[in-house]
Amino acid sequence: MDRRTMMGTLAAGMVGAGLSAKGLGSDATAVPKAAGDPLADYVARPFDFATGLPGLSKELLAEHLTLYKGYVTRTNALLKDVLGAEKEGKAGAMVQELRRRLGFEFSGMRVHEWYFEGLAAKAPAAALTHPLHKAIDATWGSHDAWWSAFKATCTMPGIGWAALVKDPVTGRLMNAWFQDHENAIPVGVQPLLVVDVWEHAYVRDFGATGRGKYVDAVKPLLDWSVVEKRF
Ligand SMILES: [Fe+2]
Repeated sequence: MDRRTMMGTLAAGMVGAGLSAKGLGSDATAVPKAAGDPLADYVARPFDFATGLPGLSKELLAEHLTLYKGYVTRTNALLKDVLGAEKEGKAGAMVQELRRRLGFEFSGMRVHEWYFEGLAAKAPAAALTHPLHKAIDATWGSHDAWWSAFKATCTMPGIGWAALVKDPVTGRLMNAWFQDHENAIPVGVQPLLVVDVWEHAYVRDFGATGRGKYVDAVKPLLDWSVVEKRF
């Protein structure tokens, strides 16, 4: 079953299970609740790429931000549906599948935020005296060697994300692959740098075979001050 068919089946099943499908697949703007409210809706963050980024068209970025907002909207809808079902004592397969779907949508929202906040038109160069870069050198031998391995991660066949992550337990750095948004991730790791390599992130500008060129275009946009703060 492809994703579109699965979404339709899920929405139909939700109605059958007495759950609301409101918001799923729509791009409505979430209304924020009071600060500190643990049940507050998530709100799409205002990343401003209206003037574009060097190497990436403003059309591609606008489309990408629209897709991001969809994840925020669907996350809010699923959180309501799952919690509503739990409060009604529903525990069947439909609720279980909604939880699985929540993992996809929430992770899609959050990982896009990590990606967008790590891009800048005039990205500061890496502060090579920062402990992060010493850790990169200690792990891969050099920054260039790390980048070579990271780019290879970016161009792996599949749908997902390349990530430089840190194990907070030991401090070890790893290049990781986030399948879709939420799978194959070493559990508990701290993301330092993520690059979206879903086709929507590059096909408009670089074509279906242009993932490597897209990664080359993203490289100078990486804001190392953000990455260093996450370390
Ligand atoms: Fe994306």
